[in-house]
Amino acid sequence: MAFIDSEEIDKIRIQANITDIISSYNIDVEKKGKDYKCICPFHDDHSPSMSISESRQIFKCFVCGVGGNVFSFVEQFEHVSFPEAVKIVADKIGFSLSKTITTQNVDKYKKEHDIIDLATMFYQNNLNTSSGIIAKKYLAERKIDDNIIKEFKIGLSLDGKDDLYKLLNNKGYNPKLLEDIGLVSIINDKVYDFFNGRITFPIEDINGHVVAFSSRVYRGEKDVSKYINTKETPLYIKGNNLFNYYKARGPAKKEKEIIIVEGQMDAIRVYSSGIQNVVALGGTALTKNQIELIKKLNCKVILCLDGDTAGEDATLINGDLLSKANIIVQVVRLSDYKDPDEYIINKGIEAFKDNISKPIDFIDFKIKKEKNNINIDNSEELASYINKIIIDVNNIKDPILKEVTLNKISNEYNIGLDILKSKLEGLKQEEKVAKEVFNPVKKDDKKLNGFDKSIRKILYFMMNDEKYIKKYQKEIGFFEERVYRSIANEIVYFFQNHGKINIADFISYISANKELYSTVMEIIDTHEEELNEKEFDNYIKVYIQKYQELKIKRLKIKMSKELDINKKKEILEEIANIKRGVL
Ligand code: UTP
Ligand code: MN
Repeated sequence: MAFIDSEEIDKIRIQANITDIISSYNIDVEKKGKDYKCICPFHDDHSPSMSISESRQIFKCFVCGVGGNVFSFVEQFEHVSFPEAVKIVADKIGFSLSKTITTQNVDKYKKEHDIIDLATMFYQNNLNTSSGIIAKKYLAERKIDDNIIKEFKIGLSLDGKDDLYKLLNNKGYNPKLLEDIGLVSIINDKVYDFFNGRITFPIEDINGHVVAFSSRVYRGEKDVSKYINTKETPLYIKGNNLFNYYKARGPAKKEKEIIIVEGQMDAIRVYSSGIQNVVALGGTALTKNQIELIKKLNCKVILCLDGDTAGEDATLINGDLLSKANIIVQVVRLSDYKDPDEYIINKGIEAFKDNISKPIDFIDFKIKKEKNNINIDNSEELASYINKIIIDVNNIKDPILKEVTLNKISNEYNIGLDILKSKLEGLKQEEKVAKEVFNPVKKDDKKLNGFDKSIRKILYFMMNDEKYIKKYQKEIGFFEERVYRSIANEIVYFFQNHGKINIADFISYISANKELYSTVMEIIDTHEEELNEKEFDNYIKVYIQKYQELKIKRLKIKMSKELDINKKKEILEEIANIKRGVL
């Protein structure tokens, strides 16, 4: 992404009138009272529901919620990035930027990608030379045919220790750069190829660029790692990547399903047998970013990991991680063969498809697996097991599946359904309070509670006038909820750095942080009325009152769970203090 100086952004923002820029897209802007109104171009609008504030230089649609400053408008109207929007606005008002900005996505790592592509081709070519005969034979034995070799750009690193380096050095690439991207190692000033004597499997990033390699021994070598992979580099951050994600993304969205397997050989086998919605974990548990990648596919997950106990454990761990992220997870356990690759080779793709079409719900897998680890005859063990399971049941989104699972547990352990249901109800109550405190950001303003509304108003006032920043610092100083706290911190930071604040420039500033930006968009308001200090004081009052109520609610729950009578008293004292306004 191109870089534009923030002072220059502010200059353009000040010189561009938002009403003129919006009008320049052939949108009729009408003056209504103090505000300007127009038909909102971001939803199917019939009466003008977008309002524009000239004094604050922001816009907001009160139906679909889209809002922001002049750059946000262009960004969303033209589907461009923020710097591109700045450039477009600059062009419209005849402002000449000090730096050139290309309006296409520039590849920041063009050179690195070119080098890795060259290495990939070199490795691919090696397979077809006389040095590649044994490797080719190995691949053929594993039923990796030429089509698969081509599709996955499989290759071979040679036994010599610097064949790739020699090639790249001849092209003038510097050894340090080659080391940085994981192709060579420099030891005592001597440069060695990182991979040698192994079959190479390129790893693509989520945009389809080859950024790393996995490499496998193929001559039955002992006492060495079966696979050696590129270490982390600026281009390859393992936890942000999933093997085969780029190829699987489209098919997964279409099928509304992604199959997750353990090894990349499994993914290659499943994919080349015609089931394209498959990615591989590569032997580790899913990271937060990998779960985000899966979430973006908007589909359910089928975990089809190795058949051994390690695969079973990994199913439990990854299934839990995915379920917690509200992704629907199902499980397929293959028997007879160790992994999907061997299963398909021996039993055929139809048998595999048959398994995939009959997955079990993750919760059923989990109940069954954990049951093996407890002694059911021990009441304490059983009770703690049920308590654990009920948390999982509570997390099930589908009400029917929830009911069915409760019934199963009730039958399986001979526990009354009403007892299980009352436990579930207790959990829901706890969760509700926890949510109010830690997770209050909701889109629909009508659904916001008084607590959220007051915080959002306080933030809105702060974005408009430093007076309110000072009042916030003096009277509140800290919001417990992370997003609100971050926005407040950013407002304070902005003011400290600029010596002044206005909402339109604050929006430019915050636009780099997508999460905060989207909440700021929800908070902004275009009404032209002067901000009223009394109103602000009132929001502070409401906020403090609601915050105390929440704190008391939490303490009461804590007290109900506390068994120690002295601790109960301490909590009671704390509650009394809050009521007296001491805390
Ligand atoms: P597996 O041993 O299950 O791999 O390890 P696999 O796919 O069945 O390998 P083949 O069939 O013998 O070729 C699962 C994954 O763990 C990682 C690799 O990503 C592998 O795909 N792994 C395994 C390593 O990184 N290093 C190793 O030494 C072994
Ligand atoms: Mn295998």
